[in-house]
Amino acid sequence: MSCDLLIENAMLATMNESAPNPLPYGEIANGGVAISGDRIEWVGAMSALSSRFREDAASILDAKGRWVTPGLIDCHTHLVFAGDRAREFEMRLQGASYEEIARGGGGIASTVKATRRATDEELFSGASRRLSTLQSFGVTTVEVKSGYGLDVETELRMLRVARRLGTEHPVAVRTTFLGAHALAPEYVADRSGYIDLICETMIPKVIDEGLADGIDAFCEGIAFTPEECERIFTAGRRYGLPIRVHADQLSDSGGAALAARVGAVSADHLEYASEAGIQAMAKSGTSAVLLPGAFYFLGEEQMPPVDVLRSQGISIAIATDLNPGSSPINSPLIAMNMACVLFGLNPEEALCGMTRNAAKVLGMQGDRGVLREGSSADLVLWDIDHPSELSYWIGPNPCGAVVQAGVLRLS
Ligand code: NIG
Ligand code: FE
Repeated sequence: MSCDLLIENAMLATMNESAPNPLPYGEIANGGVAISGDRIEWVGAMSALSSRFREDAASILDAKGRWVTPGLIDCHTHLVFAGDRAREFEMRLQGASYEEIARGGGGIASTVKATRRATDEELFSGASRRLSTLQSFGVTTVEVKSGYGLDVETELRMLRVARRLGTEHPVAVRTTFLGAHALAPEYVADRSGYIDLICETMIPKVIDEGLADGIDAFCEGIAFTPEECERIFTAGRRYGLPIRVHADQLSDSGGAALAARVGAVSADHLEYASEAGIQAMAKSGTSAVLLPGAFYFLGEEQMPPVDVLRSQGISIAIATDLNPGSSPINSPLIAMNMACVLFGLNPEEALCGMTRNAAKVLGMQGDRGVLREGSSADLVLWDIDHPSELSYWIGPNPCGAVVQAGVLRLS
């Protein structure tokens, strides 16, 4: 029983709920983790550690009582884009609303202009910088959406850049095709022509090149109707793409019910979701992804129905929604803090939302987001006295070391 890396004398927040009588955070005090290749070979209390792991370990890291959690998973980002929207931020502070700016040709459309103009290299270097920042805060898996191209070539370019991020950064990248983020400017007089372009040209090309692990659409008054989204999801489902929905962010647009109807893995945002919509999500096993960064940055007042989500037993994930327009937040920990302060989650729910429940949204349940035997060796060693601190500090970075697919990086 040899292993490549043994982490010993750690406080473990395994986030494993399937252990018998789990403590909060799936805590194992004075624990150890044995890693072989990119897998967790063993996890448990030091008192139960086989002496052979210790004797035959290629390297040993003494955690000295520090906390170890699963690597963080940011399951909803728009990491690839060009430019910024700081001028629109100023306009909003002077009283214009996000929707008014969008309807006036700004908003997503202005990032589309900048993204179309940018070279692949420019898109890559901006996204790479933001991704490095997420990684420095303990992110080991990240989802990246397209949606700032809205033409065939730029949508493909964005997804290629996202794939490249996964090959050049020690981080697992999952990509989502979001051609239905906004109506392409060329199609203002032909909405159904744009949906045709998505279904008949973009999706097949994305599939041909193996560029997407999922499909998403923005169901909203300023974007697409449930019927339009459903056409797109039906086309995506033909190729087996798991479905995500930007649902009920700015109004009750029937997004939660749509997500349930199409069997989506998640409905994201949900501020205005109706109780009936949430109940339908519970029946279809659709996860909620809460994005407190967008709620905060847009100065929203309508809260997502957290109590209904809880009482319906819906799995709740938290993500940054990192994007230039509604959530320029480059830290998973600040998103967790906001989930607690603004949405009333507790720090354990917030950490669960960035680990185990986020893994489920990306179809990686069991393999990521928990410390348990057989799962991917993605974990973070934190300079904290208790995991509630991960949702508590605003700004500091307590990430001490990251193990990504079995490889240790000290920060
Ligand atoms: O998740 N809601 C739609 N998409 C983004 C906003 C993108 C933008 O404004 O550029 C979001 O909040
Ligand atoms: Fe989003």
